[in-house]
Amino acid sequence: MIDYANIQSTSAEPEASSMIQTFRAIGYSIETAIADIIDNSVAAKSKNIWIDYDWSGSNTTLSILDDGIGMSNDELIQAMRPGSKNPLDERASDDLGRFGLGLKTASFSQSKKFTVVSKASDCKPAFWTWDLDYVTKEKAWKLVRFIPNEDHWIKKVESLKTGTCIIWWDLDRLTRGTSEDNQEAKSKFLGVMDSLKSHLSMVFHKYIDDGLKIYFRDRLIKSWDPFMIGMDGLQTKPEMRLEGDSIRIKGFVLPHRSKLSAEQYNYGKGPKDNWTAHQGFYVYRNRRLLVAGDWLGLFKREPHYDLCRIKIDLPNHFDSEWQIDIKKSFARPPSIYREQILALAKDVRNQAVEVYRHKGKVLKRKLASDEYFPFWEERARHGKRFYKINRNHPLVYELLSKSGDLKKELEKVIQFIEETIPVPLITLQENENEKPHGQPFEGVDNNAIQEAMQKLFDGFVSSGLSVEKAKAKILNTEPFNFYPQYINFLANE
Ligand SMILES: Nc1ncnc2c1ncn2[C@@H]1O[C@H](COP(=O)(O)OP(=O)(O)OP(=O)(O)O)[C@@H](O)[C@H]1O
Ligand SMILES: [Mg+2]
Repeated sequence: MIDYANIQSTSAEPEASSMIQTFRAIGYSIETAIADIIDNSVAAKSKNIWIDYDWSGSNTTLSILDDGIGMSNDELIQAMRPGSKNPLDERASDDLGRFGLGLKTASFSQSKKFTVVSKASDCKPAFWTWDLDYVTKEKAWKLVRFIPNEDHWIKKVESLKTGTCIIWWDLDRLTRGTSEDNQEAKSKFLGVMDSLKSHLSMVFHKYIDDGLKIYFRDRLIKSWDPFMIGMDGLQTKPEMRLEGDSIRIKGFVLPHRSKLSAEQYNYGKGPKDNWTAHQGFYVYRNRRLLVAGDWLGLFKREPHYDLCRIKIDLPNHFDSEWQIDIKKSFARPPSIYREQILALAKDVRNQAVEVYRHKGKVLKRKLASDEYFPFWEERARHGKRFYKINRNHPLVYELLSKSGDLKKELEKVIQFIEETIPVPLITLQENENEKPHGQPFEGVDNNAIQEAMQKLFDGFVSSGLSVEKAKAKILNTEPFNFYPQYINFLANE
């Protein structure tokens, strides 16, 4: 034990404005910032939350009002302090907070000035403002009691029995230097508001389903369910439980596109408007979604796993083990569960890919044609073996026929490739190397395969082949024959 009594000390307080600038660099998006503010409203037992904005160019305001328990003047000042709670403190099991920072870091990430007006039971509304310009000028952690249009905001909160309103009123990141009548800036702002709405419909979908009302400009936000529970063709896996019953993991294989209406298929694309971006794990902490479709560093995204979504439910007392971050948008499983989670995920992924393969195989059988286009052909010359690139392969044929003046040179390069393939080396490796030879395009970005397939398909169709025939030809063309599951995507166009 060190005896601090006889040791000299000096104060080294953080420099206020530099610290706030650091907060601003934490990396919130407007979506994650508002979600962090709403976490506080949910933790304060709100039944209704109203998000509103008032477009006015660089004077635009954005507010989040709730009817939660509110705060007294003293509680509000405490809440405005960065680090208002110790991350090591035990939290109520339904609390969404951890660091005592979110209100400040989320607000400063989007605005230079923000005010919190709050009313606790039997109290008058209190309000305080963080103003980065004032803090910089004063070089001190000092709040100010100022907000433009004070009456308007006080009245809003006064009309509730209890509640809190957060007002961001210098949105420099979003609206700096824009005038009210700048239509381009306005439509960009409205676009951001749209994606904010869909983000919230996802992050708080369980709360919304349980009765929480989040209004965006007086319109109720609907929930978005990543697992499309209740949909025909949804496959669910048994739930895995860890740490007693407190961590629950469950895999879902969503219905194949052929089983969904266009509307249902679009619903499945979710707020990111893309099935591939939504595959993977969905990590919930106290029913609030932290991570919405991510392989948590275990796998890469690949289109044939589009139907695979895995739910992880966590309570809030494993925050440090799961590396939950200030923004509440990151989580990583601790290494002790890694193998179990990996095994579960592999199983769900295999089931998901089977759904695609099955569709691909059915199509392949249906569309089989006997013309086969390998990329390489074996030839004999003077009693010796040689390998040649198949000039009739659709990709080669197309390249040569488009090459014009370059055709002769291209032919020459192809000939050189053919004459110099390192067959002895390949043969040696094949015999002596314990690593198996991968199949074409294995382990590389499969977008390349898909794009080439699509281009070929478009070419075949525009040259007069029927859609069915074009697909049949692709399935008989190397290396696309290794990827029958992608033939489904061609039908999507
Ligand atoms: N809308 C609100 N209604 C009532 N109290 C609130 C509200 N927003 C914030 N508070 C109070 O302010 C405190 C600080 O909020 P802040 O978001 O900064 O930290 P936190 O929620 O404790 O933790 P985290 O940094 O993980 O979000 C909260 O713990 C809560 O007591
Ligand atoms: Mg918080």
